Amino acid sequence: MTSLIDNGPHGENRRDFLHIATGTLAATALAATAWPLIDSMNPSADILSQASVEIDLSSLEPGQRITAKWRGQPIFIDRRTQATIQAVRSESLADLKDLETDEARAINPEYLVVIGVCTHLGCIPLGQAANARRGNWGGWFCPCHGSHYDQSGRIRKGPAPKNLKVPPYILSGDSQLIIG
Ligand code: FES
Repeated sequence: MTSLIDNGPHGENRRDFLHIATGTLAATALAATAWPLIDSMNPSADILSQASVEIDLSSLEPGQRITAKWRGQPIFIDRRTQATIQAVRSESLADLKDLETDEARAINPEYLVVIGVCTHLGCIPLGQAANARRGNWGGWFCPCHGSHYDQSGRIRKGPAPKNLKVPPYILSGDSQLIIG
């Protein structure tokens, strides 16, 4: 009588072959299904193009502020006057909620660069326009729940727990700002 299981020269049989063939097909199908998902996790060309932004600050006057955009977030750039730098650097640090010196926050004291997102619940603070409300310390004021930031972007009053974040950046030459 013929056996239903044909053993090959090394002891393999049809059942083994079917298991291997089924496993290979399943692995191929899984790879085909997973690829679009894995591929979609790579940053798009659009996102990559925003990984860093370059801003020419040469036309910015002392005392002027501008807003740039980096990775979808507003970036506040303040070209501070000498009087502002002196005032902010001579303040007592004793009452700071989030202790940071201005020296640690501004690579070049003339240019303060911070992410313009309130560290309480993410509103955009006022203060970029010359006539905007800037709070009790002359920096920025968040109208959502009343947080006051000083001219170094440090939280001084209100519910925000942290200073405005400083993004990664370099200043190239006198006035070329590269964020990211
Ligand atoms: S979001 Fe700015 S104070 Fe609440």
